Amino acid sequence: MCRRASATIVAAVSSSAGKDAGFNTRAIHAGQEPDRLTGAVSVPIYATSTFKQDGVGGLRGGYEYSRSANPTRTALEEALAALECGERELAFASGLAASDTLLRALCAPGDHLLLPGDAYGVTFRLIARVLARWGLDYTPVPLSDLDAVRAALRPATRVVWCETPTNPLLGIADLVALADIAHEAGALLVVDNTFASPYLQQPLALGADVVVHSTTKYLGGHSDVVGGALVLQDAELGEQLAFHQNAMGAVPGPFDAFLVLRGIKTLGVRMDRHCANAARIAAFLVDHPAVARVYFPGLAEHPGHELAARQMRDFGGMVSFALRAGEEAAVKVCGLTQLFTLGESLGGVESLIEHPARMTHASVTGSPLEVPADLVRLSVGIEDVQDLIADLPQALS
Ligand SMILES: Cc1ncc(COP(=O)(O)O)c(C=O)c1O
Repeated sequence: MCRRASATIVAAVSSSAGKDAGFNTRAIHAGQEPDRLTGAVSVPIYATSTFKQDGVGGLRGGYEYSRSANPTRTALEEALAALECGERELAFASGLAASDTLLRALCAPGDHLLLPGDAYGVTFRLIARVLARWGLDYTPVPLSDLDAVRAALRPATRVVWCETPTNPLLGIADLVALADIAHEAGALLVVDNTFASPYLQQPLALGADVVVHSTTKYLGGHSDVVGGALVLQDAELGEQLAFHQNAMGAVPGPFDAFLVLRGIKTLGVRMDRHCANAARIAAFLVDHPAVARVYFPGLAEHPGHELAARQMRDFGGMVSFALRAGEEAAVKVCGLTQLFTLGESLGGVESLIEHPARMTHASVTGSPLEVPADLVRLSVGIEDVQDLIADLPQALS
């Protein structure tokens, strides 16, 4: 059930789901009523760029051109709004496209933004190498240190950009406290909820203004689509973002929207399994002599453990660890697993392994966001956990 249900969510959640429906019911039914014409249970892929008008301006259901709106995308947008308990959702061609559209809609040249000291490297690259050229100023700050956040705020700060858990160090930030700090300073709190997914954490209910997703990850869930999303409560801001979505044009095609929509139907059951498997693997790694440190918020010794337990349903499917023998050992481990596939990305049903410093976070080498070279990141999939655990000793030895 949404803790802060809104009128639009109530409308978006189909009658069969009901406004008080649980998460999995909303994932399967919100925005996904059987097709009115044919009764198709699965939302059709409306592979069309344009729509016949009944006389000039006589739109059927509000559709005129698929950059502005497409019924498959509408279904995805309604479903995701219901899952994040938001007023409005906007789907994009990638997570980065969502972030870019959001930041260029919210900020003007001369504005300032705070972002996590260990933000996702490619988000940092977007801000530092693209938006900074356009006049956006930024400060990386450890978001778990609230005094440091307060000290880094400026009169021109428009956005506090948050990830929790962070990629790849699994840091946890206090969303309620950050929302208060941002709002007191006249800024908005934007939360990239990709690592948690709406099943584990709902930032809007904790005070965030906008949620960002790379739907490429847990929401899609099958490593077969790239997509992004923004979810928010404020109707006026929603209109402003919808204008930018259409004016900038980084929208997903109907087939991509369909794939994400299909993925989210099973989000809850997949996340339960990702979380259970990740907890078992973290426990295995903690005891392994080759491992210097395990980064996983489910471990009692993780500095954000209690906070994560408060604001998340479970601790997620991502586990990072540092090798005692350093960088070369970390690189070698990544090449030796059989079941964990060496590859970028995360959140799919299959387990992945990667070396962030040379792969997903190579773009931040030499910046304040550089990640440790001895670090390995696992995206723990939903295979049988004993098989996953059996894959690790030979790679670590
Ligand atoms: C936390 C996080 N945010 C945003 C993105 C960017 O998403 P996309 O690759 O869909 O553009 C990623 C991609 O890995 C990510 O991990």
